[in-house]
Amino acid sequence: MTELRQTVEMPQKAIPVVIFGAGSIVTDAHLPAYRDLNIPVVGIYDPDLEKARDVAKKWGVANFTTLDDAASQGSVVFDLAVPPQAIADLLEKLPDGAVAIIQKPLGSDLTEAERIISVLRRKNIKAAVNFQLRFAPMSLALKDAIRKRQLGEIVDFDAWLALHTPWHLWAFLTNLPRVEILLHSIHYLDFVRDLMGNPNGVHARTIGHPSSTVSNTRSAIMLDYGETVRCNLSINHNHAFGRRFQACEFRICGTKGAAYMKMGVNLDYPKGEPDELWLNTDGEWRQIDLVGNWFIAAFRGRFAQVQRFAAGLDDVLEGSAEDAWHTMALVEAAYESSAIPMHPIKEAPDA
Ligand SMILES: NC(=O)c1ccc[n+]([C@@H]2O[C@H](COP(=O)([O-])OP(=O)(O)OC[C@H]3O[C@@H](n4cnc5c(N)ncnc54)[C@H](O)[C@@H]3O)[C@@H](O)[C@H]2O)c1
Repeated sequence: MTELRQTVEMPQKAIPVVIFGAGSIVTDAHLPAYRDLNIPVVGIYDPDLEKARDVAKKWGVANFTTLDDAASQGSVVFDLAVPPQAIADLLEKLPDGAVAIIQKPLGSDLTEAERIISVLRRKNIKAAVNFQLRFAPMSLALKDAIRKRQLGEIVDFDAWLALHTPWHLWAFLTNLPRVEILLHSIHYLDFVRDLMGNPNGVHARTIGHPSSTVSNTRSAIMLDYGETVRCNLSINHNHAFGRRFQACEFRICGTKGAAYMKMGVNLDYPKGEPDELWLNTDGEWRQIDLVGNWFIAAFRGRFAQVQRFAAGLDDVLEGSAEDAWHTMALVEAAYESSAIPMHPIKEAPDA
């Protein structure tokens, strides 16, 4: 089997970044990824000035004390790692023609996504969205294998998650009406779109659990890709019965071969396990040696592609905001589908 691509090559000269938000994803993934890629961080802004100062100090970078100061920096990439409802107003502050990377989701719902898109278009801001599962080493390798026709036509995509997710760790989730699909399965829906394009429709059910502190934690999602492709996502974050039969995996089958992906980050959370990619292209399963895991190697791939686009090396900004709108529309349709009754079953005839 030929070598499969697992990384995105950085341009020779990195473009510095300005980070908005000094929250957990910035310290857990953004700053480590920028450090690994040798991308200079000009500074961090957070309305919680003390938090920005502490994070900046710890990472040896500067912090901004005003939003205007951070937003007026020239020749940089702007990284927005802020809550979804803060994105549109923040984009309004950026210079016209800027390049930005926005944390997922693209707003809290489709209406917010549309407002974000309209600001981007008016200000001619080129923005990518951080649906970074597309850039995980296992995802890049799988896409390369598919591009090289090693699996033939993709005819089946199955996601199977049986996890015990500690939602209580994120206090802000408590009163949100949308949690599971909007904040978690959205990664998988975006990944499916990246592999197979936009589906024609969706059937979904998302529900909570008697033991859970948040609104929805279990989802069943079926995507319509026509007569030859089956696509199903079965997601249970309340499988609290030990590691043995827990799972976080995709099975992807083509006409000539198949793939198995394990997303280790969600297993044994927060410790995590290594990701896995297995391919069977000639009757035998082979494990692919991965150069890194979803967290945080995928952030490196995501940020490197933004850098390539900003440097003029790539014509296309992959996973752009315009593309992410379709993932948001799919999420919206899934919640709408979940709110309506399923196809009724005929009642038994009178005796
Ligand atoms: N891609 C992923 O896998 C992934 C993982 C975790 C979180 N996220 C997303 O990243 C975003 C941030 O998540 P988090 O866990 O870091 O949250 P967090 O609550 O820890 O941090 C968010 C920070 O943003 C700051 N903020 C709010 N408005 C701001 C503004 N206008 N300018 C600058 N900073 C502002 C807040 O003060 C806070 O410090 C969320 O949208 C979340 O969905 C994505």
